[in-house]
Amino acid sequence: MKECPEIKAALLGFGTVGGGVYKLFQRQKDEFPRKLGACPVISRILVRDLSRPRRGADPSLFTDRWEEIRDDPEIRIVIEVTGGIEPARTRILEALRAGKNVVTANKDLMAEHGAELLAAAEENGCDLLFEAAVAGGIPIIRPLKQCLAGNYITEIMGIVNGTTNYVLTRMSRDGMDFADALKKAQELGYAESDPTSDVEGLDAARKIAIMASIGFNSRVVFSDVYTEGISGVSAKDISYAAEMGCCVKLLALARCTPGGIEVRVHPMLLPLDHPLATVNDSFNAVFVHGDAADDVMFRGRGAGELPTASAVLGDVAEISRNIRCGCTGRLGCTCYKQIPIKPMADTENRFYLRMQVEDRPGVLANVASVLGNNRVSIARVIQRARTLDSAEIVVVTDLVRERNLRDSLAVFGGMSVIREISSVIRVYQG
Ligand code: NAP
Ligand code: HSE
Repeated sequence: MKECPEIKAALLGFGTVGGGVYKLFQRQKDEFPRKLGACPVISRILVRDLSRPRRGADPSLFTDRWEEIRDDPEIRIVIEVTGGIEPARTRILEALRAGKNVVTANKDLMAEHGAELLAAAEENGCDLLFEAAVAGGIPIIRPLKQCLAGNYITEIMGIVNGTTNYVLTRMSRDGMDFADALKKAQELGYAESDPTSDVEGLDAARKIAIMASIGFNSRVVFSDVYTEGISGVSAKDISYAAEMGCCVKLLALARCTPGGIEVRVHPMLLPLDHPLATVNDSFNAVFVHGDAADDVMFRGRGAGELPTASAVLGDVAEISRNIRCGCTGRLGCTCYKQIPIKPMADTENRFYLRMQVEDRPGVLANVASVLGNNRVSIARVIQRARTLDSAEIVVVTDLVRERNLRDSLAVFGGMSVIREISSVIRVYQG
């Protein structure tokens, strides 16, 4: 057999993803020599709390001292799966400055400090790969950066958060309560350590910022993304959506338009015959539109131990080959344009509005007149539930400028006949 150089790697974090990465290293170790021409091995594992029992890995590998890894010249790859901004950012910078290649699953970090980290990788001739940071087991970073390099990409749209997709699926399919569905998603290892990130759309916003930066070759950061989560979506909205032949999904969307980059995350009513409507549970899917390839769709498990570890191992394999061939640091930052971000108020959408109004003659006409005065055209009205003196109405609009809809909502807020605006959800326009 050909000689197979050992490549030492350190694992930072041994939680859901770290545990999965360790398992896949064990499963693949006999394949590595022929697959990669090199044998990556985990030689150290960093955790916060050394006293916690760790199942499945040699106890002598564990440390809580980052310096032991940073200062070990034999460690060539650092796999960061701890999460959060600090100390992960400082550790990655120190690893790169020490000439170590880095794999990370950390979207928080890449969406806010990607430019800084990629610049450090380039300066030090190292690889910094982050396939697991977006859509778990789905290969999307490498396809966007490399396989679709022959395209002008104009749209990226998808379901990129496994937790919220799981929650919405269980609420609509099994009538499960929001809190119970979220608890189950946490038990399954899909959720972030603080699940607010998932529920409020922040995790998806980080992922679309990363994809938009790569797809449009122009830096988009987390704070550029207009973000709404699913905490305002109720069982009632899901039931009205079903009545209209739709489901509710948390979508991430980025478009490169002549007026700038439109980038947002929010719930959306999707027709049941739309391909994304069939993406359920922890599955994610991403559509990419390029001028040459046309529509391309990626689908797979967006979260969880082994799907995420699969993406990490792909990066480790790539780096191992690069180390063997002496060509790390080949592929750095590809954001060479500066395209402005389009304000959300200038975008166009269709809307579903659910509101509680006084149940008396003329109220519906009032609602219609406010919308009309603000150039919001109505496509559909449903009136269903009625209590003693109040009625629930649902209005679906045609495609309208976001600013005009917001102006209408501001007027509704000052009208005594409108008791509550219960939900405002965008509706897919094909
Ligand atoms: P997790 O289960 O909470 O595990 C985090 C691990 O990191 C734990 O072992 C923890 O040590 C260690 N850690 C945290 N802070 C540390 C510090 N300051 N120093 C040393 N060790 C530290 O998290 P996870 O779900 O595996 O997620 C890890 C990363 O992958 C995050 O960036 C997340 O966004 C990303 N990600 C997760 C998924 C998923 O499905 N879970 C998918 C894609 C990407 P202790 O064990 O001692 O507490
Ligand atoms: N919390 C994330 C999700 C993990 O639910 O999609 C994968 O990035």
